[in-house]
Parts: sequence; structure tokens; C-alpha cells
Amino acid sequence: MLKIGLIGLGPIGSLHIDNLTGGKIKDAELVCVCDMRKVDNPKIADIPFFSDTDRMLKEGGADAIVIATPSFTHFDLAKKCLMAGKNVLVEKPIALCSADAKKLQELAKKQNKICAVMLNQRTTPIYRRIKEMVSSGEIGKVNRVSWNMTNWFRPQIYFDMSVWRGLWKGEAGGVLINQAIHNIDAFAWIFGLPQSLRAWCKFGKYHNIEVEDEVSCYMEYPEEMTATFITSSGEHPGSNRFEISGDKAYVIAEDGKLRISKFKDGSARDFTLNTKYAFGTPETVESVEEFDGKGGQHAEVMNNFAGACLGKNKCDYGADQGVLSLTLANSMLYSSLTSAEIKFPFDDEAYAKILAQKQAASELRKEVRKDFILDFNKSFR
Ligand SMILES: NC(=O)c1ccc[n+]([C@@H]2O[C@H](COP(=O)([O-])OP(=O)(O)OC[C@H]3O[C@@H](n4cnc5c(N)ncnc54)[C@H](O)[C@@H]3O)[C@@H](O)[C@H]2O)c1
Repeated sequence: MLKIGLIGLGPIGSLHIDNLTGGKIKDAELVCVCDMRKVDNPKIADIPFFSDTDRMLKEGGADAIVIATPSFTHFDLAKKCLMAGKNVLVEKPIALCSADAKKLQELAKKQNKICAVMLNQRTTPIYRRIKEMVSSGEIGKVNRVSWNMTNWFRPQIYFDMSVWRGLWKGEAGGVLINQAIHNIDAFAWIFGLPQSLRAWCKFGKYHNIEVEDEVSCYMEYPEEMTATFITSSGEHPGSNRFEISGDKAYVIAEDGKLRISKFKDGSARDFTLNTKYAFGTPETVESVEEFDGKGGQHAEVMNNFAGACLGKNKCDYGADQGVLSLTLANSMLYSSLTSAEIKFPFDDEAYAKILAQKQAASELRKEVRKDFILDFNKSFR
């Protein structure tokens, strides 16, 4: 059994407590918890509580630590846990910039420990199926992708109830690094990183926040594949529509359904170049695949992490994977902040410098709103 310590007992920390104490994590038990504030949760009444991370690392008896604190604390806490010889599973984002994420990846290697990141939306069945369709060649050569992911609506109180949300200091970005990081991760997981991109962000367009709440990005990949990614935390109802135009099939993912149009004679390009019909279109075979539910999500990632720590399986959500989504999210911000096209490999040190300047001019909130109502379960996409 892996002995897990949990740092951060806010909304997402509570979900990890539910999973760990509710028998959903096969090879792990929760042996200690830590938060800066007193937390009243009957599920951890008998579990040793620490208000100080150093003491928990020394005295808590955990082999592995789950970090579920605000995003700006992830890098330092993960570093501290790895230095203390613990395996670590960090909530997303693994750090605030890809340069720091790479440092964690290197440190974990040096310490011979696992550093994983909570990329829970990779377990979403519809995204898994899309990845399989792309990598198996079922869609054929991908010509164009567009993902309109605009149903991440957040009201102002979501930001005002915490010291850190919506601030350069607290999370080093907005919708890109907090909400849509899940979709950006799925995107990079399926297609990899582009060779160039240009993005336009609107900062505080819908909310009284410092960071971006609307983004439009255009990307170019090898072999003339192009892609657009649009996201917003200010629109409602918005949509989540993911379209992939391939040479063998055209696929639309929306509302838990995959609508697949396969080209009957194989290649759309062959039809385009060879048909004699001036207004002809290739014949298609239509099918719809329906996906029920969201898959294993956080519990599945934690099970994989626990198994990896115990040497039972490989770690599918390592720091290298956390680097992917951060690189893409950071490069979109960098493009917008510098009004420039970004070429890959991304210069993450240059971005880290710009981010440091933004953070130096930003402060965590001194006053937070206390009149919020926590309806956290609504927030999953
Ligand atoms: N994977 C997901 O689906 C998902 C969903 C929600 C949030 N998150 C991520 O989880 C993190 C936490 O989100 P939240 O909404 O629970 O935040 P929150 O601010 O509501 O709660 C964080 C908790 O951590 C505690 N804390 C802060 N600094 C600490 C420290 N140094 N030591 C010990 N405790 C500390 C706070 O007192 C608080 O109880 C964020 O990085 C967020 O991006 C992930």
C-alpha cells in the first residue's frame, strides 16, 4: 500500500479525500493531511492533520504527496517534496511556466522519484477515442483542426473568493492556464506541439481580473496541417466543439457524441483531384458514436500514480506530459503579449522573464469575498 499525504484541502483536495477514503484508490491509503487553515471535514477526522508542510514531510509517514494547493505554490511545494525523497502528484498546472515544469522533471529524475501531474481529462472517453482515431490513421492525414472551447464560464465571485485566482502573481494566466489547460493538454496529447502559432488574448474583458479571459489562436503543423483553438471564461452557454478534417474522415465531437463521416472511396484528396463532377462532393458513410460519462478522471490518474510509485505500472501522467500543455498555454500568452508569431521549440526562458516582470507588478488579493456559495461539482467539463 502506498502511504499518501495530501497538501491543500480546498474543493479539489476534498475530491481527493473522497476518492482516497472512499475505496476508489486501490493501492493507496491517506495517512496525513496538511492545510494552512483549519478544515472541518468528517472524512479526515481520524487522519493526522498538519498546518505546516515541513512537519508533515518529516513526521507524517507518507511515501508520496498529492499537492492540491493554489497554482502559484505548486512548483516550490513539488520541489520541496522531491527533495524530501517523496514521490509527488501535483494538481494542474504542474508549475506556472514550462521552464519550471522542466526543472521538476529533471529533479524527479535526479532523485529517482515520480513527479506526476493531474491530467484527469485524458481519461475522458471521447478524447481517448479521438486520439486513437488520429494515431491509428483512421482519420487519415489531418488537414485542419478547430476546437471551440468556450463553455468555461466563471462569474466574478469565483475570482474574488480566493487570494490567487485571476492574478499574474497567483496563477500566471487565466482561462489558458486554469480552465482550458485541460483541453490544451488533450490537444497537445493528440497532435503534439505545433511548429508555429499566433494568438490573441483579451485580458479582463469579461471580468475584473488581470489575466486573459478570451483567446483566439492559430497554429501551423508540419505537412500543412492548420489548427485554431478558441476559448473563453466569459461566455454562456458557449460550446465545446472539436472538428477534425482528415483525408479519410471528417469528425465532429460535440455534446458527448462523435459524428464521423468517412469518405467511401478512401481519400478526399483523390476525389478532389480526379472527379469530373464540377460541383461533386465525395460520398461518405456516416456514423455516430455516443460516449457516456467522463471516464475515471482524478481517481484513474491517482490509481496510475499509486501503481507507478509501487512499481506495478508505468506512470502515464509524468512531468514531461505536464510540460506539454504548459508550453502550449505559455506560448499563446507569449504570442499575445509580444504581438508576435511564436516558433517552436518554444523559448521558455524568454517567457519566464516576461512572466517574472508581470508577477513583480502583481499582488495576491488582500481581501477576499466570503459570501460565495460553493457549487464545485458544476465546474467539471
Ligand atoms: N484537476 C482538476 O480538475 C482541478 C479542479 C479544480 C482545481 N484544480 C487545481 O487545484 C488547485 C487548488 O484548487 P482549489 O480550487 O482547491 O483551491 P483553493 O484555493 O480553494 O484551496 C486550496 C487550499 O490549499 C490551502 N493552502 C494554500 N497554500 C497552502 C500551503 N502552502 N500549505 C498548505 N495548504 C495550503 C488553502 O488554505 C486551501 O484550503 C489549483 O491549482 C487548481 O488549478 C484542479
